[in-house]
Amino acid sequence: MDERPVLFFDSGVGGLSVLAAARALLPRMPAVYVADSAGFPYGTKSEAEIGARVPALLGRLAERYRPRLIVIACNTASTIALAAVRSALDLPVVGTVPAIKVAAAHSRSRVIGVLGTDATVRQPYVDDLAAQFASDCRVLRHGSAELVALAEARLRGDPADPSRYRAILAGLFDQPGGDRIDTIVNACTHFPLVEHELRAAAPHPVAFVDGSAGIARRIAFLTEGQAWPVIAPPGLAVFTGGVSDAARLGDALAGHGLTTVETL
Ligand code: DGL
Repeated sequence: MDERPVLFFDSGVGGLSVLAAARALLPRMPAVYVADSAGFPYGTKSEAEIGARVPALLGRLAERYRPRLIVIACNTASTIALAAVRSALDLPVVGTVPAIKVAAAHSRSRVIGVLGTDATVRQPYVDDLAAQFASDCRVLRHGSAELVALAEARLRGDPADPSRYRAILAGLFDQPGGDRIDTIVNACTHFPLVEHELRAAAPHPVAFVDGSAGIARRIAFLTEGQAWPVIAPPGLAVFTGGVSDAARLGDALAGHGLTTVETL
């Protein structure tokens, strides 16, 4: 029996969107979900801050929880620190990068929106993805820290006024050519958690895509042939900062199989 968990890592609750996709494919997977609440939010931090924080923290987490694999369920951390984490750790690390390839395969208008954090949308990693997979598309980008906050609030049971979603999406649709966007990449793992609200706020119908299904397939591929427990053990949610509002997140965590909560 192999009880080693898969460790999912994000700054907050965004990585739950990735955990959900992984669980759908691997229902017996033991999971540890780590929210770096002490470092939240990442999207407004510098490359130097993320680059120093994430590899060091994941090193500590790997020692403590002995995972079989780590999923950096955060676009900001992945686009900045994935290579450093991989070279520091002696275990497989799956990253989350903007699903521009998926969007390019889907778009008919050849105008794609990339909605991420400020830190993610300015990364050369995103330039490279756009050049490699969407060279015949216009790729418009917008970073929003507010949308991360709205997703965090939404999981705590606080809905926001639809006008706030409309104003955030205007950051994409009001750019030159933005009226032709037909596909939006949710390039922050928080955003699929409010996809329903985003869809309702869009000025015309658009498809939303993200990388979670691809990540789930990658986890399945990398763990192929490994044993899983007969029944998934209760999942563990770990917060690096205080969990003063853990009670408000309880339902959302339990809904993802995370029934135990601890702080680091
Ligand atoms: N969920 C994270 C991402 O995918 C970042 C949210 C934040 O801390 O700003 O980029």
